[in-house]
Order: sequence, then C-alpha cells, then structure tokens
Amino acid sequence: MRRLLIAGNWKMHKTVEGALSLIRELKRLVSDVNHRDILVCPPFTALYAVRAELKGSNISLGAQNMFYEEEGAFTGEISPLMLRDVGCSYVILGHSERRHIFGETDELINKKVLSAVNHGLIPILCVGETLQEREDGKTKEVIERQVREGLKGLSETSEFVIAYEPVWAIGTGRTATPELAEEVHSFIRELLSEMFGAKKAESVRILYGGSVKPENAAGLLSQPNIDGSLVGGASLKADSFAKIVKFDAEG
Ligand code: 13P
Repeated sequence: MRRLLIAGNWKMHKTVEGALSLIRELKRLVSDVNHRDILVCPPFTALYAVRAELKGSNISLGAQNMFYEEEGAFTGEISPLMLRDVGCSYVILGHSERRHIFGETDELINKKVLSAVNHGLIPILCVGETLQEREDGKTKEVIERQVREGLKGLSETSEFVIAYEPVWAIGTGRTATPELAEEVHSFIRELLSEMFGAKKAESVRILYGGSVKPENAAGLLSQPNIDGSLVGGASLKADSFAKIVKFDAEG
C-alpha cells in the first residue's frame, strides 16, 4: 500500500517569523499522526530556520524549486546541494506557476528532475492542463507529454512523486471532482506502468493539488489512485492544513 503524502506548498508566503509560528502550531496539531507522511515546502528564505524547528518531528522539509547545477554563475538560483544542506528531502518541480509565469519548459524541468534524483532529493513533478486545453479535449495529451518529458532518463529505481494539479483548479476555489481527478490519476499510473513497469507504477505516489480544503479532502483522498495532496492556500494556516492531514476516510 502507498502511504499518503500530504504536502503544503507555501508559495511566496511567510517571513521567517511567520514560518516558525506556523510550524510550531502545526507540529502540535499533527504530532499524533504516524500513518501518513507530512511535508512542508516553505520559501527558500525560511528553510534553514524551519529545519531547526522541525527536528525530531514527523514533518519533512521540501523546497519549491531549484536549478539543476551544483554551483556556478547562476545569479538568483538555488542548487540541489544547497537544498540538501538546509535539510530538504523533497523539491517541487515544474509547478504550473513556474511553467506559466516563468516560462519553464518540459526540457528544463526534466534537467531539474534528473539533478534532484542524482542528489538524493525526491522530486515532486507537477503536471496539469489549462482550462483551454481541457475544453479542447487535450487533457490526456498534455499530461502524457508532461509526464514522459519530465521523467525522461529516470529508471524504476528512482524515487519520485507526481502531483496532478489542473491549472484551472489552482487558487480558484474550483476543485476537480473526485471522479474527474481519479480519471487523470489512473491515466498517469497507466503511463508510469508503460514507462517503468507495473510494479514501479504501483509504488509511485500521485498527489492531487488545486483548491484542496478540509471540506473536500476526504472525497479526493479516498480515490484509489489519489495518494495525497499538494495544498496551497489551505496550508498557510495550521488548523486547516492539520485538518487535511487528519482527514477521515470514513467521512
Ligand atoms: P491552492 O491549494 O491554493 O489551489 O494551490 C494549489 C497548488 O498550486 C499547490 O501546489
């Protein structure tokens, strides 16, 4: 069985002080959770401080992006070595905001994914169609391209996570229905099976992201191919994120 992973993507929110107070409260609220994996992805500037606060807790640390080189003249970039250095074990890559606002391509994202794996970080590769692509009937085509290109060069021994985040559901309050999300998740798992074999495909966690809230978490997370969630807005408050972490599958 795949262990559920509930991840918070804080995006460009929180000062160091704000991050620490959120983490202190969150630690208290989820300290009794041991059957699910919990991850927070604060902005770069708070990683070091948050790492110290997380020591000995059941919450892992991740970053929201990185460059693929280890070091060099890449002004403004952060390397996989730097993320390891501040205690990250995961890194979100190819988020739709990176793709659409900062023009990241599948090719660039793939370089980052390979570099993350080579440096012992678990990449969370984000994929998702825009509203236009969905309306044009291109959802599967887009997802297939993003998954195949993004994971190119990995093998069945590489550890990675996928997050399906339909662009039209991010920050809009418009969530995919559990059935609609499940359809794409099972499509992604079939693709993984073609690419890496059925055994590997069964072990990869595929998260759903896009307006996940305490109220809709159980419906989404009870689907057979939804193995967790990547939460934006609702991860900025300890109580709403903790409620998602502790969702009750029985409703
Ligand atoms: P929201 O939960 O705010 O819609 O954001 C989703 C997301 O982009 C997580 O990476």
